Amino acid sequence: MKYKAVIFDLDGVICFTDKYHYLAWKKMADGMGIYFDETINNRLRGVSRMESLEIILERCDKELTQEEKQVLAEEKNKTYVELLGQMTEKDLSSEVKETLDSLRKSGLKLAIGSSSKNAKFILERLGLKDYFDAVSDGTNISKSKPDPEVFIKAAEFLHMAPADCLVVEDAKAGVEAAKAGGFDSAGLGEAAESEAVTHAMNSFSDLIGIAL
Ligand code: BG6
Ligand code: MG
Repeated sequence: MKYKAVIFDLDGVICFTDKYHYLAWKKMADGMGIYFDETINNRLRGVSRMESLEIILERCDKELTQEEKQVLAEEKNKTYVELLGQMTEKDLSSEVKETLDSLRKSGLKLAIGSSSKNAKFILERLGLKDYFDAVSDGTNISKSKPDPEVFIKAAEFLHMAPADCLVVEDAKAGVEAAKAGGFDSAGLGEAAESEAVTHAMNSFSDLIGIAL
């Protein structure tokens, strides 16, 4: 086997919570009269909650205080968590579950490397609470992607060297983070088009050919 472990981004890789992030930010932006669309939303992939807010506020004429920004971020998160509450184990696709099971059966360690502070709640909704060998998320990092911190922490939790781990991402910022940390990466969607990506994928099950 080429790798000993696989570290997965969560939003947009394991599940489609990226659409809920979009809906929640859209509600906040509409409420403020700020223009927001899917193209701007793509810039938020892998980026922390407060940094995402700053990107959306590029289109806001008013200068906001730190307290006002905090209120907006909390408002967005409240909408987002409400949307996550609708998720069930049925939202985990059979392709993702079967691929994860095959990778694990072959002896690979599996971990999460996500910027989200809601990662553990999402894993619980999907029935994956105790599935992964390690979870590194927005609650244990101080710098978000493209900084490699979240993946370096995941590798540390697994007691593995970055060179032995493959990172799976849907965000360009994520594959840049992987490269900066000395990890190979496998990219889906816009991440597959990044110059920094090691393996471009068309679908999640391509991992079988890449990681085994
Ligand atoms: C990442 C998403 O996984 O988590 C970003 O790709 C999001 O879009 C970030 O901003 C932080 O998420 P949360 O759940 O902590 O607001
Ligand atoms: Mg993602």
